[in-house]
Amino acid sequence: MTESADIAVEVVGLGKNYGAVTALKSVSFSIESGKYYALLGPSGGGKTTLLRLIGGFLRPSAGRVYLHGAEVSHLPPNRRPTSMVFQNYALFPHMTVERNVAYGLKLLRVPAGDIRDRVDRMLAMVGLEGYNRRMPHELSGGQQQRVQLARSLVLERDILLLDEPLASLDARLRKDMCLELKRIQEKVGITFIHVTHNQEEALTVADRIAIIADGELVEEGTARDVYETPDKRFTAEFIGDNNVLEGAVAAVFDGRVALDIGFAKVEVPAPPAPVPTGARAAFSIRSELLRIAGRGEDMGASWQVVPAEYVEDVYLGLTVSHLVRLPDGTEAVARQMSGESDGNRFEAGQEVAVGWPTDRARLHLA
Ligand SMILES: Nc1ncnc2c1ncn2[C@@H]1O[C@H](COP(=O)(O)OP(=O)(O)OP(=O)(O)O)[C@@H](O)[C@H]1O
Ligand SMILES: [Mg+2]
Repeated sequence: MTESADIAVEVVGLGKNYGAVTALKSVSFSIESGKYYALLGPSGGGKTTLLRLIGGFLRPSAGRVYLHGAEVSHLPPNRRPTSMVFQNYALFPHMTVERNVAYGLKLLRVPAGDIRDRVDRMLAMVGLEGYNRRMPHELSGGQQQRVQLARSLVLERDILLLDEPLASLDARLRKDMCLELKRIQEKVGITFIHVTHNQEEALTVADRIAIIADGELVEEGTARDVYETPDKRFTAEFIGDNNVLEGAVAAVFDGRVALDIGFAKVEVPAPPAPVPTGARAAFSIRSELLRIAGRGEDMGASWQVVPAEYVEDVYLGLTVSHLVRLPDGTEAVARQMSGESDGNRFEAGQEVAVGWPTDRARLHLA
């Protein structure tokens, strides 16, 4: 396998079975050096397994792992350029912050003077300058998380593996720590691989995101790619608040696919791959792109419009979700910023129209 020097991680056909359980099927992807990469997906999808295979805490059942171009598939963790922040792994409760951070360096028999310098530098990096003598129970959850981070970063390995590093934090703290992690990654400039099941967290921190589900890599791309232009229906349903409607391909013309969704025919941009007429397909449209209007109101030529019945609105603080029922009984959601919401413009049971910009829908073949 040939590889350019700036690929930090490459996995090829990587698989893992635990006895009869196949946790990872045959995953291949690569990560550029210095990137912040997220592995995002539902619980039990294989994220921890994949991260542990990269870190050397598990041996693969199939496939290979390359780090900076060198095969490491069967090397132990300490012979890889990685360090790992484990899922649900706490600090040593009886040790000060300083001793917690110094722990790994002591095992490596780094001289005491160097240890002190490196620990101080790392505590400053994570915003905990002067916290050396505190005990873990004297720290907030976010501060404890930062000590954990310092404990891994201080090893000065080239690739940091983080397994749900923010899972134990409340929503507010998690948001702050996301920005903090990103700032730290930019400062140290090493490759971060961050496992999470939280889409907002992944979108905030990552340069690129891999969607992992059911032991497979579903899709990979920049945060914007997977959010705005998901190729796979699974991605559309997992990330963002998408409406997904199913139908059959009626015709393909001029870069558009005409889809028969039962109660209407709609046009969806054609994907690069060929689309066979008659095939079952679905399309997704994000809830913030859906607009509700009165029947017969003009939405513009570049919009797709279908009839619906207004159900209710749900106030969510920042946004308001307007629920409508389509003629086939499925529900769709149109989300607006609270400040821009039309308020009680529509009543339950009212006949309305819902529309979306034609070029923003995504086709997903079954
Ligand atoms: N040691 C093990 N023995 C048997 N099965 C295992 C073992 N570890 C994990 N599994 C199974 O492998 C699959 C993937 O597990 P994994 O821990 O990689 O998922 P995950 O994506 O990290 O999930 P979560 O988000 O809940 O942490 C699951 O079905 C899990 O039950
Ligand atoms: Mg896990």
